[in-house]
Amino acid sequence: MDKLAIQGGHRLSGEIRISGAKNAALPIMCAALLSADTLRLDNLPKLRDISTLLTLLGHIGCDINLDEKGGIDLQASQFKHLEAPYNLVKTMRASILVLGPMLARCGEAKVSLPGGCAIGARPVDLHIKGLQAMGAEIEIEHGYILAKAKRLRGARIVMDMVTVTGTENLMMAATLASGTTVLENSAREPEVIDLAQCLIAMGARIEGAGTDTITVHGVDRLHGAQHRIMPDRIETGTYLVAAAMTQGDIRLTDTRSDTLDAVLDKLRESGARIACTPDSISLQMHHRPQAINLRTAPYPAFPTDMQAQFMALNCIANGVGRVTETIFENRFMHVQEMQRLGAHIDIEGNTAMVHGSASLQAATVMATDLRASASLVLAALVAEGETTIERIYHIDRGYECIEEKLNQIGAQVRRVH
Ligand code: UD1
Repeated sequence: MDKLAIQGGHRLSGEIRISGAKNAALPIMCAALLSADTLRLDNLPKLRDISTLLTLLGHIGCDINLDEKGGIDLQASQFKHLEAPYNLVKTMRASILVLGPMLARCGEAKVSLPGGCAIGARPVDLHIKGLQAMGAEIEIEHGYILAKAKRLRGARIVMDMVTVTGTENLMMAATLASGTTVLENSAREPEVIDLAQCLIAMGARIEGAGTDTITVHGVDRLHGAQHRIMPDRIETGTYLVAAAMTQGDIRLTDTRSDTLDAVLDKLRESGARIACTPDSISLQMHHRPQAINLRTAPYPAFPTDMQAQFMALNCIANGVGRVTETIFENRFMHVQEMQRLGAHIDIEGNTAMVHGSASLQAATVMATDLRASASLVLAALVAEGETTIERIYHIDRGYECIEEKLNQIGAQVRRVH
């Protein structure tokens, strides 16, 4: 299993190009199942989660053509298996996103239940309830969701929690339903808007994406389209925190500052100087960061996917920072590993009090989930000595070429096979 060896203490300075957003690419690739025509996607990130989904789409019967520029053609003219098997779903929860499109287009779908995952229970009850409200008959048998519906019909669906993939699954299903679907308490994440824009390019009639009420007027068929995946706001935020922690000076290109308001506010609060254009962000930090308090919540509030990285920043900040996680119940697994690097963190319920120290010390640590792994990389960048991070396959799920990008701006990161 690969490891990362990181020599701490180097200031980051330079420019990095941000990749396409994993969390936009995954639902948008599933949208290809809604049409018999070709969906052309550009700016797809090269990540393990994307290859996992390509394997699943191939299993379902989708034709896949990749070109060297990172573009991809997906065409689902015929289906081989209306099924997402356990061995694929268990490695990536987002596989649940094939359920809505397969059911809407083919009237039938069998998708493994994702089961528990490291950061919490993460049920899919709202996906199931929403499809039932649209007329689907759903049974759970032998760990699989078995869904049937001659044709889904429009419905008013009130989701009692804000769920990102839940909103995306139901929005995709509703595009081919008969009549109008109204999704109340929808997720407002930019990735939901990106998916809606792709669906609209395919002929869907969707209003209100980006607000908490999305209205979808069903159509009989969708056609092919071309879509460019939006930039990854979490990758952007992670490199910005890396620069702030190393008192660096970086410029990130091909990104979108308008998707990062809450994150940029917190970085400014910690003392960073930030300048934005619509597609670039520059950050300079001239002193040790100030500790910051934060509370995760659905977009546009502070993202749970940036919580661990800001915890790393607080570990070396001046003062005490309070970090409250409200989305997932078990998303502090990085804390024990950070303590191995010398961090001072006390946890009470869903809140961590982080007492900043002037320095951290290198150690061997273990990556436990995607964003926790990123936070360990950040901590290692400022620790004294060489830190080894084990189980970095988690990082490869969501960060394209992380060691190359970091080395390009002055870090010393080695992948050890
Ligand atoms: C998506 C993101 C993930 C991010 C998360 C929260 C993708 C592929 N993944 O995950 O990176 O951390 O949003 O911003 O986009 N819930 C239920 N029942 C459901 C669905 C969700 O109770 O049917 C709960 C979950 O357990 C969790 C909360 O709702 O506590 C939010 O989860 P959700 O927004 O669904 O996360 P994902 O869409 O899986």
